[in-house]
Amino acid sequence: MKITIFGSGYVGLVTGTCLADVGHEVVCVDVDADKIARLNRGEVPIYEPGLEPMIATNMRAGRLRFTTDATEAVAFGKLQFIAVGTPADEDGSADLKYVLKVAETIAQHMCEPKVIVDKSTVPVGTADKVTATVRRVLDERGLDLAFDVCSNPEFLKEGAAVQDFSQGARIIVGTDSERVVKAMRECYAPYNRNHEKLMFMDVRSAELTKYAANAMLATKISFMNEISNLAESLGADIEDVRHGIGSDPRIGYHFIYPGCGYGGSCFPKDVQALGRTAADIGYKAELLSAVEAVNKRQKSKLFQKLEQAFDGDLAGKTIALWGLAFKPNTDDMREAPSRTLMEALWAAGARVQAFDPEATDECRRIYGERNDLSYCERRDDTLEGADALVICTEWKAFRAVDFGHIAATLRTPVIIDGRNLFDPQSVKSAGLLYFAMGRGDSL
Ligand code: UGA
Repeated sequence: MKITIFGSGYVGLVTGTCLADVGHEVVCVDVDADKIARLNRGEVPIYEPGLEPMIATNMRAGRLRFTTDATEAVAFGKLQFIAVGTPADEDGSADLKYVLKVAETIAQHMCEPKVIVDKSTVPVGTADKVTATVRRVLDERGLDLAFDVCSNPEFLKEGAAVQDFSQGARIIVGTDSERVVKAMRECYAPYNRNHEKLMFMDVRSAELTKYAANAMLATKISFMNEISNLAESLGADIEDVRHGIGSDPRIGYHFIYPGCGYGGSCFPKDVQALGRTAADIGYKAELLSAVEAVNKRQKSKLFQKLEQAFDGDLAGKTIALWGLAFKPNTDDMREAPSRTLMEALWAAGARVQAFDPEATDECRRIYGERNDLSYCERRDDTLEGADALVICTEWKAFRAVDFGHIAATLRTPVIIDGRNLFDPQSVKSAGLLYFAMGRGDSL
């Protein structure tokens, strides 16, 4: 099948590459000429396990191409995926300018019927806006062409996107058109072999499903962080509580890890945007506001713990920081708890010595070179001359450590663990003070 993907960002690139990998012919189009040039040279602008070799294989096989030429791209695909960004507007609602710009572009160049697929995360009602935009431009061109607009939200996790695309739990398609059902069945047939994963529903329900899924997951995290804070003050251990409640199959073990707050490009933006959608129709979404507020508070907890550990005096202190990315297996630092911590430390006059297996370049891009931030080549280099160690991201390479070495190297024997990586007894027996999240004697 011939498929065009507008937007070669995270979602567009993964979608286009995975669809090419199962044999479809795919053209990815982007307005960013530099990005397209890099992709054509085989350089992948994002870090995503498994993606780079898959792009190379499919480019070599001639099934995957990158272009800035919208005319050619619109002519190419029967399916036209819109996978461009929907950044948060000033008021928290999703900004649709890029999505509607693509709708305009498709309408300006199309000469035969097309199925337009909203892949971007967009508020309920967006498909109607895309339809109206395409119709307006076609009218201006004096053309009466058939087209369909459907919603096909993505459920990819950064760091596992390739696998999620191929082995996702469901494929949601919002449409009331038989033509779309047929086309989307053909597109996703390679992923729909063992059991029926395709779920067809009306467009608005599909659009809301995406937000509801992310809001539910964010709620689980904020709920656990709330209980974690209670556990801390009540002298209980959230890790025991987590095991205890997770054993109930109605609750389950997934996604109930307490920590230093959720980050990334999705949960913060989507919870906010859903709240905005609710406000726009005059509904006060109390739970969503609480989920956001709890997360904001959680992201400042690491700094608070450090402040308490050093009696409020962090000026001149050097803090070793493990983990800059908002989660492991990505170089993404959007809304990362590490940023909240570093910015608070700098404001308090402290220095940071940071290590991350993938996100150092991204951190440099965001913060540049500064006197109060140094990047370390190796994890344990951060400890040299540092007053305390803070862990922000649960990278696998942070799990096995020599606590004796940490105790001997740090100036003050303090570990603040935002991800509850270690057994408290093992840490403490090395003579370290260990402050984790929601674990009894935490600060
Ligand atoms: C999230 C969803 O998990 C995907 O299903 C969705 O498709 C995607 O957003 C999206 O809308 O595009 P992602 O942002 O890549 O994916 O990251 P997650 O793995 O979900 O983690 C989000 C944040 O929650 C991270 O900061 C992570 O550390 C935190 N988290 C996750 C916890 O604090 N506790 C948990 O138990 C799980």
